[in-house]
Amino acid sequence: MEADLTLHVNGQPHALRVDPATPLLYVLRNQLALNGPKFGCGLQQCGACMVVLNGNLAWPSCQLPVAEVLHMTITTLEGLTRPDGSLHPLQQAFIDEQVPQCGYCLNGMVMSAAALLQQDPKPNEEEIRNSLYRVLCRCSVHSRAIKAIKRASEMS
Ligand code: FES
Ligand code: FES
Repeated sequence: MEADLTLHVNGQPHALRVDPATPLLYVLRNQLALNGPKFGCGLQQCGACMVVLNGNLAWPSCQLPVAEVLHMTITTLEGLTRPDGSLHPLQQAFIDEQVPQCGYCLNGMVMSAAALLQQDPKPNEEEIRNSLYRVLCRCSVHSRAIKAIKRASEMS
């Protein structure tokens, strides 16, 4: 049954009428037109749908009911861009290191790394590798992604 809810996404409150059991990913993409998070497996297995909760927790949104995140802040890939339009150091570093192949996994890579850098601005390589454990990449760009995350940590 639908209800009136407010989600806090990318620094803005959004009033919505939605079934509280709806997965967050569907609300982000279909109602808020935020297409950074991707639908991959729908089973919390691939990481394509990753968002950051409360500033420093990367979590897949494809099976997360919106009822569970009403009191959390939600950041999507779109929310990393600075208010003046400049790119987040991670976004710039992923471009500089030419990480993308098909790009489908990149939302998960970047959002996982964003949460890591919030927890630890200067992570070592093992910490970076561990931060990506939930993200599957069919194109095998992990080594370039690790270089980009290191580069971003040096830029910030
Ligand atoms: S789509 Fe959410 S983890 Fe794969
Ligand atoms: S770049 Fe294609 S899935 Fe990672």
